[in-house]
Amino acid sequence: MKILQLTDIHLTKPGQTIGGRDPNANFEKALDHCLKDHQDADAMVITGDLSDWGDREDYERLKHRIARLPFPVQLCIGNHDDRPTFLSVFPELASEDGFVNYIFPLPLGTGIALDTWAPQTHEGALCTKRLQWLDRALSASSSPAWLFMHHNFVPNRLGPLDSIMLKDADAFGQVIERHKDKIRHICHGHCHLPLAGSFHGISFSAPRGTNHAGWFSFDEDKMLAGSDLPQAYAVLHADASSVMVQMIEFGYQAKVRLEGPPDYAAWDRATMER
Ligand SMILES: [Fe+2]
Ligand SMILES: [Fe+2]
Repeated sequence: MKILQLTDIHLTKPGQTIGGRDPNANFEKALDHCLKDHQDADAMVITGDLSDWGDREDYERLKHRIARLPFPVQLCIGNHDDRPTFLSVFPELASEDGFVNYIFPLPLGTGIALDTWAPQTHEGALCTKRLQWLDRALSASSSPAWLFMHHNFVPNRLGPLDSIMLKDADAFGQVIERHKDKIRHICHGHCHLPLAGSFHGISFSAPRGTNHAGWFSFDEDKMLAGSDLPQAYAVLHADASSVMVQMIEFGYQAKVRLEGPPDYAAWDRATMER
């Protein structure tokens, strides 16, 4: 199974930039890169911050664009989105209680998209209703589950970023704990940093994002930090016994060298050639 994870695409009015980068152009570059190398993907999931200001026009352009891709595309919303506006364009993604929570089939189980949006804040939330929905979805599923969501639930130890993580991480963890034998991996976004770890024994990962990049400023206690690192998306490869997540830095501008075959005898200590 191969899943493409794009995150934090932050679409804007055409021509508007964020951090000196054009989110619409970079989203197109990410899609081109995916189409060049991963036409065989089973799904693409875009894990939130779809529109920078939750504008209807951004969602309409997104809907039109993803309809032309050769694989199914699933969407989560993030703090920059606006749930009512998003659902006015994507009404089919609403759960019965009005959240952007839904399940979708994957070759190795069930994908679960989780809505961690809360109004007028960058912090993430999973209220009782959403946690009960997740609990029911996991209870009803007889196959392995793959979770997709925007906000991080494990702190980065970066103060300003941690102040806007998922505030209900403990309650989320209790649901995860109950179903951990069924959950294979969790993909999130939001931090604009490449991250990996585990939560209640479940592996998770996050790519940097397709437009602006963050940085690990451990001594900064007020401001979010940005950098000029390359734009990236993730490719998740999985089979019955393993998961591999690759961070593809498609914004890398410099040369890629072919360094020779991985043949032990061909490596020469005198020339340092390989
Ligand atoms: Fe973001
Ligand atoms: Fe975010």
